Amino acid sequence: MHISSYKNTLFSLTIFLFFFLSEAKCRKGCDLALASYFVPEGSNLTYISKIFDRKIPEILLFNPQVGNPDSIQSGTRINVPFSCECLNGDFLGHTFEYVTQRGDTYATIASLVFVNLTTEYWIQRVNIYVPTEVPAFVPINVTVNCSCGDRHVSRDYGLFVTYPMRPGESLPSLAAEIGVPLDLAEGFNKGFDSSGGSRIVFLPAKVKVPVR
Ligand SMILES: *[C@@H]1O[C@H](CO)[C@@H](O)[C@H](O)[C@H]1NC(C)=O
Ligand SMILES: *[C@@H]1O[C@H](CO)[C@@H](O)[C@H](O)[C@H]1NC(C)=O
Ligand SMILES: *[C@@H]1O[C@H](CO)[C@@H](O)[C@H](O)[C@H]1NC(C)=O
Ligand SMILES: *[C@@H]1O[C@H](CO)[C@@H](O)[C@H](O)[C@H]1NC(C)=O
Repeated sequence: MHISSYKNTLFSLTIFLFFFLSEAKCRKGCDLALASYFVPEGSNLTYISKIFDRKIPEILLFNPQVGNPDSIQSGTRINVPFSCECLNGDFLGHTFEYVTQRGDTYATIASLVFVNLTTEYWIQRVNIYVPTEVPAFVPINVTVNCSCGDRHVSRDYGLFVTYPMRPGESLPSLAAEIGVPLDLAEGFNKGFDSSGGSRIVFLPAKVKVPVR
């Protein structure tokens, strides 16, 4: 074999391996994903609209179960639409901008403001402030993961809910509740990693997500 053609082959192989090995990461996201927001006591749509930067009528489109928009029931769930992007070519998510209030920490922002749609660690990863010195009244990044589905698992589901599981909930119990076979639900949550306290799973939204 000619030396230069040998070199070319080697070069092509390197390029091929590069793309092959980075295949697990994302290339593009999708226009729409839903965040399942567990309504805390005293919360309201105005606040949810502000946190997620979406207009109330847009949110209501995905929540036909809401009877009276002026007083949503605490302890129920609201689906909040957001766009799901491929961040850093690395994973699917969306970064919301949140303005810190006095007394906020990454932990309280994750668990109370965003009701476990993200974790303390995941917020810390995308902000310059050290966790013990987060100033009040500054914008910070809050990244929420999402899914656009997986055609290798099933082509029947295109819209996914980022769903923080509550105590007592599990992937099998949720799959049964929304009427999705467990192997599919597991297939859509292959990377599920509960280390760091994350209880976030992705559920297909083809069937309406039950309100609890
Ligand atoms: C809406 O909820 C936010 C956050 O819980 C609260 O600060 C605000 O007072 C509430 N607004 C109304 C009109 O209830
Ligand atoms: C978001 O996704 C990344 C990549 O899969 C993962 O490492 C991280 O733990 C996830 N974050 C949360 C809060 O689940
Ligand atoms: C939020 O993310 C952007 C883009 O990565 C970055 O430039 C900015 O510094 C981040 N904000 C904070 C408060 O860390
Ligand atoms: C959020 O997560 C924390 C820690 O796992 C848990 O104690 C809390 O009950 C969760 N909040 C909701 C509303 O599920």
